[in-house]
Amino acid sequence: MSIEKINDFRIGIIGYGKMGKMVQQIAFANEITVQSIIPSIEKLSHNLVENCDVLIDFSHASVAPRLIEQALSFQKPVVSGTTGWKPDVPLLTDLALKNKTAFLHATNFSLGFHIYNKLVAQSAEWLNKLGGYDVAGHEIHHNQKVDSPSGSAKTLAETLLKHFPQKKQTLYDTSYSQIDQNELHFSSTRIGSTVGTHTVMFDSFCDTIELTHRARTRDGFALGALKCAQWIKGKVGYFTIDDFIDSMKECCEVVS
Ligand SMILES: NC(=O)c1ccc[n+]([C@@H]2O[C@H](COP(=O)([O-])OP(=O)(O)OC[C@H]3O[C@@H](n4cnc5c(N)ncnc54)[C@H](O)[C@@H]3O)[C@@H](O)[C@H]2O)c1
Repeated sequence: MSIEKINDFRIGIIGYGKMGKMVQQIAFANEITVQSIIPSIEKLSHNLVENCDVLIDFSHASVAPRLIEQALSFQKPVVSGTTGWKPDVPLLTDLALKNKTAFLHATNFSLGFHIYNKLVAQSAEWLNKLGGYDVAGHEIHHNQKVDSPSGSAKTLAETLLKHFPQKKQTLYDTSYSQIDQNELHFSSTRIGSTVGTHTVMFDSFCDTIELTHRARTRDGFALGALKCAQWIKGKVGYFTIDDFIDSMKECCEVVS
């Protein structure tokens, strides 16, 4: 995945932890100017962000809403990857419109994962129509991960329930008896330092189809955030990562 070369594109980084530093590193490698680094809420000022085209936020749920509202009121577009809070969509939409600027939030900036989710949706629809197929999912993450199943496994399970309607609910735990045919089994394994692997399996009497997405590093999250930052420059309103992916529809239609 590459980043488009845009002359004189300047970003500000809000939150200077692991992800903020990764965004800085990927920006540097792609000749994007990091105009400002805002490591804490006290440091956010109009002067500091004045010359930034877009601000990228990877901070903390306890401060992100205030930082974002302030940045939008400075008429700066914001791309936020901070998790653990639920954006107030009407409030942020209003603020973006009022200040003629834009806001985009995503809990997972791996663009590959979102494309994979779309492939899963399309495959589920076709195979559901064809008939004779069952479906299940599996995810693997490192043994320090605090949540199980992963948020991405939940996203995939939602996709499958929507596009493979013979499955009515998801079973994330072990089935100690025969599984209900309406249940989608989505299991988890925790091992070593695996960054994140998700697999969806469709199985029929004749064959098995396996679709896998395997994340390797944090670079993908930073790349995704930077691509979204380039995309929202000049836009007005509230956006999600799906809006960005859907904007690539034209190129996808050529491929299909
Ligand atoms: N959307 C994605 O794709 C994605 C990917 C990775 C991480 N994340 C999320 O991004 C956020 C940051 O992740 P990280 O790994 O860089 O975390 P981190 O703990 O390494 O860094 C967080 C940074 O936020 C800032 N911060 C934290 N508390 C603050 C406070 N009270 N006041 C002001 N600033 C504060 C600091 O600069 C800190 O260094 C988390 O919410 C994480 O879950 C999202």
